[in-house]
Formats: sequence, structure tokens, C-alpha cells
Amino acid sequence: MPYVEGSHHVTLSVAGAQEDVDFHVGILGMRFIKRTVLFDGSLPIYHLYYSNANGDPSSVVTTFPWAQAGFYGKRGTNQAREVLLAVPHTAMDFWSTRLTEHDVEVEDVEVFGQRRLAFRHPSGIEYRFVGAEGDERVGHAGNGVPPEHAVHGIHGVGVHVSTPERMVEFAEESFFSRAGLAEEGDRVGLQIGNQKVGNHLEITVNRRDDQGTWSYGAGTYHHFAWNVATLENQDEVKFEIEGRGYTDISELKDRKYFKSVYVRTPSGALFELAVTHADGGWTCDESPHELGTRFQLPEQFEHRREEILGRLEPINL
Ligand SMILES: [Fe+2]
Repeated sequence: MPYVEGSHHVTLSVAGAQEDVDFHVGILGMRFIKRTVLFDGSLPIYHLYYSNANGDPSSVVTTFPWAQAGFYGKRGTNQAREVLLAVPHTAMDFWSTRLTEHDVEVEDVEVFGQRRLAFRHPSGIEYRFVGAEGDERVGHAGNGVPPEHAVHGIHGVGVHVSTPERMVEFAEESFFSRAGLAEEGDRVGLQIGNQKVGNHLEITVNRRDDQGTWSYGAGTYHHFAWNVATLENQDEVKFEIEGRGYTDISELKDRKYFKSVYVRTPSGALFELAVTHADGGWTCDESPHELGTRFQLPEQFEHRREEILGRLEPINL
């Protein structure tokens, strides 16, 4: 039987590369594990990867800093909007103070009876820290973040839609939603796949905003990746989704560290089905202790190394 294991990573279109590194590493304390480029198209743009201590699937946030190319997006409805990250539930006061000290505006909100911290990435993307209990994913300590407060990884994804029914139907009938639909006001919460953590899909009804950007554009959420564990299972999952009529699903793409297909969901949010395969993983081109220290170019761009490096702004850690 095809299945989804849980989440794999989140991919965002941000503005500047240095401000993105400063935010994820300098403020959120995440581990910088990979600096490479976008593999699609011909425009050289960084692809930056951040994770928890171990680079676990379900802990990774990746970004394309688009300001360099002048591509800006518009947040709106019918797209993924909220980056939901899990932190220890005992760490909320620490994070509230830390974010404020770093001039990040932070607001306390309550969702599904739980306290959350709402703040934004410098490019405007909405982040939420969700307090977790018993989450065994090990956060990355450093830059003033002690281990007991560090980010565990992904909690899930918040999607905004003008009408939620078709997306709930997709999740329940074709995308491995577990039983139990939480409802609160204009928000519905589901869990996808086998894992206990990191796999929350929250759907918010949003009829106020115009349709948001689907292309790459700074300030917008590009896609959410699910972990489908094996290449065989990935094939089966794709086959089943197509069999329900969702044929807006891509061919297999080799992302070096993992292999993926992409499906446009009825909410407008783009989902990726990723597999970290035997020849991939973060350590396929760097040793575990050097992760993120060297600029990695995929084979197809190697002949353009000088030109590409000349175009990208230097990053200081
Ligand atoms: Fe991705």
C-alpha cells in the first residue's frame, strides 16, 4: 500500500541571501547544511538549506533568495502561507524574548487551544512557532540558542484557500490524511501520513486576499515537501494520485540530495513528494562536520562555476 511517512522539507522564495542566513542561523539558531543553486532554469540563484542538529527529514527549511534577480511575489489566497515550526513547549517565553531582542516583531496567538508565536521572515513570509511536547527531533544549539530551546523541525504547513472543501477532499481521499479533523473558526487541521510529528496540514479559509503568486517571487512560500520514504513507494503514490484525476503531477526530478515529483493540489499549494535515496543525503558531497561550508554545484552547472560564483552575493556566516 502506498503511504506518506511525514514531512521532508519546506521551500521558500526569500529576498536577500545574507539576511536569510542571518535570520535562520543568527536568530533561529538553525544549522546551515547546504549552499547550492536552483537546479531548474538557467538563472543562477542560491539554494540554501537549514535544518535541526541532525538534518532529519521533517526538519529542513530551504530558500531561494530572489531579490538578486528582481523577482518579487505577492502573498495571497490559494497558496501555502505559513511556515509552522516546532519548538519545545517550555521554550515559548525564551523565543518571545529572543525574537524581540533581535527586532523581530512577535505576537502571541492561540490556535487549537495552544499558544503560538507569530512572526515574519525579513522577506515577509509568515512563521509560527508551535510548542511541542515529547518531540524527539534534536534541535541545533548555538548562536545563543541553548539545546533545550532549539527548533525541533517542521510542525507542518498552513495553506490559505478561498474554499476549503476540495483541499480537505484531496487530503482525505487521495493524500493519506489520518482520521481526525480539527476545526476551529475558519481553520481546519489534519495530519498526513504515519509520523506523529511534523505532518500537520492546516487549511485556513481566506476570501479577503487576491490569488497569491505561484511562480518564484521573494516573500512567498513556494512548496511543501512530504517524505515518501522509498523510490518504489514514490512511484505508487504518484500512480494513485494520478488515478484520482490529479494529473498535474511532474516527472521525477533528481535533486541530488533527494529525488522528487511535484503535484499541484486543489488549494493551489504545491506539494513535493521527496525521497532521500541511497546515493543522496546531505553527506553525499560533504562530510557530516563540514555541511554547508562549501559551495556545491550540480554537475550540469560545473562548467559555469566561475560565472555563477561571480553573480552570487558572498555569504558570511
Ligand atoms: Fe523542495
